Amino acid sequence: MLAVAVLAAGKGTRMKSDLPKVLQPLAGATLVERVLASCRHLGPERQLLIVGHQAERVERSLAALGGLEFVLQQPQNGTGHAVQQLLEPLAGFQGELLVLNGDVPLLRPGTLEELLAKHRSSGAAVTLLTARLADPSGYGRVFADEQGRVSGIVEHRDCSEEQRRNTLTNAGIYCFDWARLAAVLPQLTTDNNQGELYLTDTVAMLSPAVHLEVADPDEINGINDRLQLAQCEAVLQERLRRHWMAEGVSFTDPASCTLSEGTRFGRDVLVEPQCHFRGSTVIGNGCRIGPGCLIENSSLADGVEVLYSVLRESSVETDCVVGPYAQLRNGAHLEAGCRIGNFVEVKNSHLGAGVKANHLSYLGDADLGANVNVGAGTITANFDGVHKHRTVIGAGSKTGANSVLVAPISLGAGVTVAAGSTLTQNVPDGALAFGRARQVVKERRQGAPPPN
Ligand code: UD1
Ligand code: CA
Repeated sequence: MLAVAVLAAGKGTRMKSDLPKVLQPLAGATLVERVLASCRHLGPERQLLIVGHQAERVERSLAALGGLEFVLQQPQNGTGHAVQQLLEPLAGFQGELLVLNGDVPLLRPGTLEELLAKHRSSGAAVTLLTARLADPSGYGRVFADEQGRVSGIVEHRDCSEEQRRNTLTNAGIYCFDWARLAAVLPQLTTDNNQGELYLTDTVAMLSPAVHLEVADPDEINGINDRLQLAQCEAVLQERLRRHWMAEGVSFTDPASCTLSEGTRFGRDVLVEPQCHFRGSTVIGNGCRIGPGCLIENSSLADGVEVLYSVLRESSVETDCVVGPYAQLRNGAHLEAGCRIGNFVEVKNSHLGAGVKANHLSYLGDADLGANVNVGAGTITANFDGVHKHRTVIGAGSKTGANSVLVAPISLGAGVTVAAGSTLTQNVPDGALAFGRARQVVKERRQGAPPPN
């Protein structure tokens, strides 16, 4: 039987943030979400989350995940105190307890499998994860012999100068035999630099204690401050880009682009410099994105081109061309072959196949039939100050430059709107609509003074 406990009660003082540390985001997922995801495939019988600082907020953020038991640690008196809170909920539990620090988010799933396998085959009381860090400042140092037997862990603050030279670092990830851990947990003392109960002190009380050293030290990066947060973000971004390059995506300048865990690409996508993909975003085969795009929670079908544009909560069908300098947002849906050009914003609107809106327009709360040609500067005036209203434009219609369509309004199919019109009334199929003042030209009389 396997139980997992994630330590997530700490405040994260060094982050200097109103957000609890474990809720800081990394490539679109919070630290605690990542830590929970790293052990899910082990199929633990119990998943306990130790919460304390802003406990409700942490619990709320995980409401969508089932099967979590929240255990309150109040006040937060150290990692050993955190695990002491499990004595009651895990009373009588037989099996292993995998303890994960909530601020160590880069573990690979295979590493925890290895840790568990090593623990089971060695019959140790505790097996902990270690790495050799070039700069282990701030981390606990692990003292072990040649055979990998661990005699104890000393926190950086409690180390002598000589002990600090040991680079074998405690990852904060442990597999314990629960019954044996439970027997020593009550013996912890606060005899250390921080006056806290340290989980790390249990290791010297348990025998045998062994460790598994990971080859890639990045995996055990812990996050205590913003610098470490940024470093972990960089590691994750690099992993995501490498993954997608292996799947057939080209990046001209990979380091300038960021992805999220929920980003999916088809094959032969070209991503030019400075492109950012957030939330759950799907990019179809053969798309060409960038330079300079932000695409969030959107889906693009095959063969779409986007240049210097922002797309959010939008869906774009095949072979559309968007940008430069366009914005699609909040439910914009483009059917195949649309062209959206510079300084055009499309919001909560459905554009039929082949619609062209190439310059300086706002299409908000609108439904456009196929092949509508939106003239430069056309605006759907959708807001009367209280409510939003819809504009409907039938297939094949054409609006002249600087048209204002005051919603609610419906234009039939094949309508032509004269340039400079402000329309407030519906227009039937095939009609030509003018809504502008008639031009007046007055010629200058012979000998009259010039107009000023
Ligand atoms: C801890 C380890 C250190 C290790 C490092 C790895 C101890 C004493 N030290 O140090 O050996 O190298 O992690 O990253 O364990 N937490 C609680 N309740 C508390 C205190 C902390 O739940 O009372 C949680 C925090 O939210 C955090 C985790 O435990 O997720 C680790 O706490 P933190 O204070 O960051 O420990 P470190 O000083 O990094
Ligand atoms: Ca930490």
